Amino acid sequence: MMKYPNVPGILSMVLGSKIAQTLGLCATIVGLHWIWPDMVRVISTALSMAFCIMAFASLVSLKESQKTIFYSTLSFSCAACSIVDTLILAQWEWVMAILLGGGLGWGITRSVSMIHLPQLMAFFHALVGMATALLGLVLVALHGLFSTNIPMQTRWELAIGGIMAAITLTGSLIAGAKLHGWLKQDFSSLMPRHSLLFVTIASLLVGFMMVVWPNMWSMFALLLISGLWGAAIVLPIGGADMPVVISLLNACSGWATLGIGFSLEHPLFIVVGSIVGFSGAVLSWIMCKGMNRSLKDVVFPTPLSANISAPLAHTGHVQTLSPEDAAFVLSSASRVVIIPGYGMAAAHAQHVLQELNEKLSENGTVVHYAIHPVAGRMPGHMNVLLAEAKVPYESMLELDESNMELSQSDVVLIIGANDIVNTLSKDPSSSIYGMPIFNLEKVKTVLFIKRSMAAGYAGLDNPLFYEPNTFMVFGDGKKVCTDILKHM
Ligand code: TAP
Repeated sequence: MMKYPNVPGILSMVLGSKIAQTLGLCATIVGLHWIWPDMVRVISTALSMAFCIMAFASLVSLKESQKTIFYSTLSFSCAACSIVDTLILAQWEWVMAILLGGGLGWGITRSVSMIHLPQLMAFFHALVGMATALLGLVLVALHGLFSTNIPMQTRWELAIGGIMAAITLTGSLIAGAKLHGWLKQDFSSLMPRHSLLFVTIASLLVGFMMVVWPNMWSMFALLLISGLWGAAIVLPIGGADMPVVISLLNACSGWATLGIGFSLEHPLFIVVGSIVGFSGAVLSWIMCKGMNRSLKDVVFPTPLSANISAPLAHTGHVQTLSPEDAAFVLSSASRVVIIPGYGMAAAHAQHVLQELNEKLSENGTVVHYAIHPVAGRMPGHMNVLLAEAKVPYESMLELDESNMELSQSDVVLIIGANDIVNTLSKDPSSSIYGMPIFNLEKVKTVLFIKRSMAAGYAGLDNPLFYEPNTFMVFGDGKKVCTDILKHM
């Protein structure tokens, strides 16, 4: 019998999809623009705010947080619709710009792998910095290239927004290049002493110049010098502090948008800028707390902390186990905690790890995942990957809960993690001193899955490798887990 395509089924599937709903809403708003411009602007701004609040509200639990992406896409789509024809461009140019930008964003994010997301975020922040810097230049140009007839309040807004935009642009480019491994040198020792102080003073001076003589030249000078300031701040920072830097640059991109939003007198820029600016600042503070570092120590690393981050020599005896032996150790345990780190993401081992978890659970073993706040390369990195492998949220424990569980566990399986379990964090002479780590003192057996004795992100050796109850199972994370599973 000849088969016909199920047209109503396909149609309902497409129309029911979230992408189609978003596109439909945008098309309706843009269409209404031609008929009723002012009212549409008000409605789309209100809708944007409402979806933004719903996006935040859905962050209350891990399960609900999946809706956040959908609501924020709707919120930003409505926001984009609300600014159509309020600025310099014609309506069709706005639609083209939104479609082109949206298409590029869609394509780039689809093609980038999960482990490259932190640098992608950094490069996207750089784009926000560039866009706001260009907007600042255009706003100055609109008052006439060499005119000084800009109102005093707008001058301050442009100066602050411009400084933030330039810092975000260059800082994020450097942070992205560092995270991607394009910049590997230790700049803390290469940069001349007092260079940061020099560019800080120079930036504040050109900011002041912009307020006194606002014209294109002073705006150019402000963007250039502040760009150098951004570079001088981020270049010496490295190792374990990079996540905080990315989050701080996120906050800067919000403040840049806020400053330029005030100059534009556009409520949406002001609201979005404030949300991004303050949420980025709060996130940076929470991350600093999680690493037991002060924001000052992150932004102005002392030469001492830069020197002591040099890798130590490997010493002591290392015990190894085959995947077969590791399978035996795991099957004999009654409580197991799995600590995933960046290497699990790099090896794409989350699915096989979850199979291993299910196999152990079938045998009556109680298994939990212990998630460190800075495991991997971005906030929530491990949670996202484990959720992708359908790990139940209740089996993912945060640091404090994990430490309680670890105190009664027989075996801990550390896969692709290093810094987050590095006992050097208790050594005052170490660059990661003070960073909270998992408490493994009471665990009977520690199994480490990694490819070699190589250091982690902070470049430090790990004394835990040489402990008498630690066993290294060398190999790629996914391959080792598959082999362990085979032998169970
Ligand atoms: P790391 O300290 O970077 O250790 C990862 C370990 O995984 C490495 O020692 C590596 O050793 C191993 N590995 C790499 N590829 C592997 C593979 N295919 N199979 C098995 N093992 C593999 O990671 P962590 O413990 O998760 O700590 C995170 C670090 O990143 C912290 O220093 C943190 O501050 C920093 N950081 C965090 C973030 C956020 S927000 N999470 C963002 C930026 C930076 P081998 O080479 O020997 O295999």
